[in-house]
Amino acid sequence: MPVTFKVNGKSTTVDVADDTPLLWVLRDVLDLKGTKYGCGIAQCGACTVHIDGVASRSCNRPISEMGGAEVVTIEGLSPDGSHAVQRAWVELDVPQCGYCQAGQIMSAASLLARTPKPTDTDIDRAMNGNICRCATYLRIRQAIHRAATMAAANDGGAGRRGTGDADAPRSLLTSPTGA
Ligand code: FES
Ligand code: FES
Repeated sequence: MPVTFKVNGKSTTVDVADDTPLLWVLRDVLDLKGTKYGCGIAQCGACTVHIDGVASRSCNRPISEMGGAEVVTIEGLSPDGSHAVQRAWVELDVPQCGYCQAGQIMSAASLLARTPKPTDTDIDRAMNGNICRCATYLRIRQAIHRAATMAAANDGGAGRRGTGDADAPRSLLTSPTGA
């Protein structure tokens, strides 16, 4: 049955089996491959997107639940890779292999939208379900603090789409492995 929802600000209608996970609609139907498949059972965070403004796993959410929802993927976080989180990620050179990083960035952006000045405890709690096999956790935490500082200085805006300079390598931030 057709489902209409918004993806990165654009109204989209898809017609797939009702139980198709949102992740596969994003990747295979809409060709938004920045969102990654890791475990498929909501345990790793690689597939994290924003659904109605909240960081959510997309691998266990059937498309039938998405009618009228607003979904934002890593490709839609900012028009040009200038969201404070993306810029902080580049500045601190956070990724190693990169596979988990789209999910990490989406979780971090959601955290900063509701907690603009997070403590280490806030960060550890919010990022707890995002697994990184390369163990970039320390840089992730540092980058979230850096993004909070940038946003506080009105230098990108952690809780909204940014419009600043675009010197971030967008390919890294939208599709870390190019997969
Ligand atoms: S692929 Fe969705 S949480 Fe792992
Ligand atoms: S950077 Fe390799 S899994 Fe996180």
